[in-house]
Amino acid sequence: MAFLDKHQVLERNITLLTIFAFLVVSIGGIVQIAPLFWLENTIEDVEGMRPYTPLELVGRDIYVREGCYVCHSQMIRPMRDEVERYGHYSLAAESQYDHPFQWGSKRTGPDLARVGGRYSDEWHLDHLRDPQSVVPESVMPKYGFLEDRLIEPRHIADRLRADAMVGVPYSEAMIENAAADFRAQADPDSDYDGLLERYGDTVGVRNFDRQPGISEADALIAYLQMLGTLVDFSTFTPVASR
Ligand code: HEC
Repeated sequence: MAFLDKHQVLERNITLLTIFAFLVVSIGGIVQIAPLFWLENTIEDVEGMRPYTPLELVGRDIYVREGCYVCHSQMIRPMRDEVERYGHYSLAAESQYDHPFQWGSKRTGPDLARVGGRYSDEWHLDHLRDPQSVVPESVMPKYGFLEDRLIEPRHIADRLRADAMVGVPYSEAMIENAAADFRAQADPDSDYDGLLERYGDTVGVRNFDRQPGISEADALIAYLQMLGTLVDFSTFTPVASR
């Protein structure tokens, strides 16, 4: 066939083939990537999303340090089995303050994107201490040592500032009060009005691990209990269907 004969010319000349392959890939790339520069914004703003509180942020750092993401994803795909099991599919906005994102790549355990509020703090404590005591067939390791490790928020202001540098909207007031807010969230007897004023009244304030002092378990459970609770899906409508 005449057409295939012409194509032979390309296939037999490595330089020509490279040039044409490059052209084809470039056109495909431009079609996909260029529109993103003209869209108003690539991530739609969603009501309810706020930067993590200092305590949640520290909990998140512990989550990353302990490699929880190796066994857990935080990304609910818009497929029926996932939505029925885990809840509304994940929105891009829900990861917008994550540096780095925690979508994960493997689910040895369940997705955690909406685990917040699903269990009590006590359940999380028992589960972290000894996962097999609540789920006998679990292969999750024990993390009981977290509640023995107390945290002093010495570097927390710098930690917030680092996230602010990559675009998380931490205000000067949030950075200045980072250590106070860190302590207030884990102590229901403290004056935590400032914390709620800065981060909104969805912030959970309590002694998460039921022990004196602020431990790594406090921070981790504060983080887990917040996951997936920021956006109110009873009122949320995607931009496309507004
Ligand atoms: C070796 C893999 C593995 C690692 C690492 C791991 N998990 Fe798990 N996780 C599991 C498995 C399997 C389950 C399901 C059984 C169970 O509930 O224990 C689970 C369940 C959970 C659940 C309950 C989820 C639900 O919806 O029932 C939470 C919360 C959780 N893990 C948090 C963590 C945190 C936090 C870390 C890091 C400190 C972590 N996991 C590390 C394997 C892992």
